[in-house]
Amino acid sequence: MLQDLERVLFDEATILRRLDEIAAQISADYRERELTVIAILNGSLIFMADLLRRIPLPLKLDCLSVASYHGGVKTTGEIVFKQIALPDVAGRHILILDDILDSGVTLAAIGEKLRATQPLSVKICVLLRKEKERLREVEADYVGFKIADEFVVGYGLDYRERYRNLPCIGVLRPELILA
Ligand code: IMP
Ligand code: MG
Repeated sequence: MLQDLERVLFDEATILRRLDEIAAQISADYRERELTVIAILNGSLIFMADLLRRIPLPLKLDCLSVASYHGGVKTTGEIVFKQIALPDVAGRHILILDDILDSGVTLAAIGEKLRATQPLSVKICVLLRKEKERLREVEADYVGFKIADEFVVGYGLDYRERYRNLPCIGVLRPELILA
């Protein structure tokens, strides 16, 4: 799998060092409020597991399964919620975890859905934030790394469901991306 990368952006040690910092920040911010994490699957699975184990606070965890890409490298703009029942967030302090803020379509749709059910607060944490113009205006409160507008895989991020188990994050060789 590593040979499919044009270059590595962040190795595992670098990612974990950054997670230490974000976890400390989140732990300080939610010291006095009970935190409910909503992890967006499948992309945030590995990030979630490593991040949450660094937060020494009582917290609740729910997952939301969403599809937005349908296998390509560009958003279709259409979000499919793969489950009928949304987590019950009324009266809770919500932290949404996702792998990457790209066009903003996914996080905007999820934010809207969750906000409609009366949470006390909603914040967003992403591992990666692409520096680009977004289709929907969304800001993340916690960001692991800012990256250029390139297609990346690994550490939970996929191309056609592959590469999620790569321990690092890297740019996929462009010739491997199907036209
Ligand atoms: P959105 O365009 O902000 O709605 O991002 C939707 C989803 O697209 C993200 O949660 C990722 O799963 C996926 N995605 C966006 N950019 C990349 C990338 O560079 N590599 C892999 N997946 C990506
Ligand atoms: Mg994906």
